[in-house]
Amino acid sequence: MMRPRIYVPRDAGALALGADEVERAIIAAEQHRGLDIDIVRTGSRGLYWLEPMVEVETAEGRIAYGPVTPEDVAGLFDRLLDGGPHPLRLGRPEDIPFLKRQTRFTFARCGIVDRQSLADYRAHGGLAGLDRALSLGPAGIIEEITKSGLRGRGGAGFPTGIKWKTTADAPAAQKYIVCNADEGDSGTYADRMIMEGDPFCLIEGMAIAGVAVGATKGFIYTRSEYPHAIRVMSRAIEAAHREGLLGAGIGGSPHDFDLEIRVGAGAYVCGEETSLLDSLEGKRGQVRAKPPLPAHKGAFGRPTVVNNVISLASVPAILADGADAYRDLGYGRSRGTMPIQLAGNVKYRGLFEAAFGVTLGDIVDDIGGGTASGRPVRAVQVGGPLGAYFPRALFDTPFDYEAFAARDGLIGHGGVVVFDDTVDMARQARFAMEFCSIESCGKCTPCRIGSVRGVEVIDRIVKGERRAENLILLRELCETMRLGSLCALGGFVPFPVLSALTHFPEDFGGAPIAAAAA
Ligand SMILES: Cc1cc2nc3c(=O)[nH]c(=O)nc-3n(C[C@H](O)[C@H](O)[C@H](O)COP(=O)(O)O)c2cc1C
Ligand code: SF4
Repeated sequence: MMRPRIYVPRDAGALALGADEVERAIIAAEQHRGLDIDIVRTGSRGLYWLEPMVEVETAEGRIAYGPVTPEDVAGLFDRLLDGGPHPLRLGRPEDIPFLKRQTRFTFARCGIVDRQSLADYRAHGGLAGLDRALSLGPAGIIEEITKSGLRGRGGAGFPTGIKWKTTADAPAAQKYIVCNADEGDSGTYADRMIMEGDPFCLIEGMAIAGVAVGATKGFIYTRSEYPHAIRVMSRAIEAAHREGLLGAGIGGSPHDFDLEIRVGAGAYVCGEETSLLDSLEGKRGQVRAKPPLPAHKGAFGRPTVVNNVISLASVPAILADGADAYRDLGYGRSRGTMPIQLAGNVKYRGLFEAAFGVTLGDIVDDIGGGTASGRPVRAVQVGGPLGAYFPRALFDTPFDYEAFAARDGLIGHGGVVVFDDTVDMARQARFAMEFCSIESCGKCTPCRIGSVRGVEVIDRIVKGERRAENLILLRELCETMRLGSLCALGGFVPFPVLSALTHFPEDFGGAPIAAAAA
């Protein structure tokens, strides 16, 4: 008889909800019964309201139960052996509507594979992208990535193929691949999920990028708040070295590629690519003026590709399945899939990977199931702390870089934070300015000083002090920050502030600015 196999996630989200305690309870029950069970620790499937979600291997495929508490285990144990009925039984994970409706392209293996096993990675399609990349060669890889339409998932949506070509064309003996795993946006966790659930995918993507541009060294820059991701990635890098995926002559090719993890203390601005490079080099993270672009003069003054985790983790599947398979998915100029991360006051909190084009209303009301509190949805902030607040009237906006920009918003790294009707939007606007003042790197005046003045002006508006004049002042201040800031921290803070003011003027103690000025 086959040894029973049970899958327990060890993703930070599942751990926070008691996954380790559940594993211990399973081991205790196993020992009590004198059984020998194979417990595999995976990443998360991303259905966080069901975590810890425990799965058991059966003849019909995996059967999931969740959310499981340690106290549930005694009564559930027999079912964890046979996949039978139980109030916590969820059935086949792939049939759970939240998962069934997704297009899992980049996250295809997340929550499924033994995240520390390169053999399991390969058994689930891993390294097929690298094999094809090595057969295509540098120019062929860049052509394929360009053709796929992949745009950076860190926020700016810059075409990855162009970035790689620029670095490839820059003459230098040493070039670098830097993975931006800082993931500072509120409500986002896609990068962490990949690092904790499918680390070899990121390593493979970075190795392909290295071959494409002629870089022999890569860095993963992440934050100290991601200790589990750091541990999983470190072990995966060691395994990749042992098995020839990293080091000299990767995959039996003439290309060398090495990887190192660098950990920052966790400053929002250190996610900005030039600030990140300063921090990676051991300096205080401060934004550099551009040009020169990192593609010409990046880490340690050498040509460098800086890409987000999801951009790089999408590369192996693009190479394996072909650029067309990726390009065929999507909407407008936003090709492929986006890991939408539902957070805040939402019923079904989790990662939903879908082709671009799904509307905000579908994401929040249908996929997310509305608010967790059961109260009406009032506002949704998309794209992190610098993203706009959208009211229900804008719920027909498709998830697409251009569609959001046309409505003075951004999709950023795909974070969607939901608020119910108890939210105070003037407080949210104030928070945006306050956040900027705390996180500002201090290099330019509109951001460093403007954000502090912004907090004061909003306070005066809310108190009703010379309201009409202060509303005009706030708009002028936002305009100055937008146009005069060196980077998008100061430059984009007007998005949350002005969207709150425009769509929810009643929270600022009166009618909107246009009416107040008239
Ligand atoms: C204030 C600020 C914070 C940022 N934080 C992140 C971050 O946490 N992760 C990220 O990938 N990109 C972040 N970015 C965007 C990066 O500067 C850069 O565009 C990105 O790493 C490029 O990779 P991509 O082309 O793959 O998106 C941030 C930008 C700004 C202005
Ligand atoms: S906008 Fe703010 S964070 Fe960006 S360079 Fe200026 S001071 Fe630094």
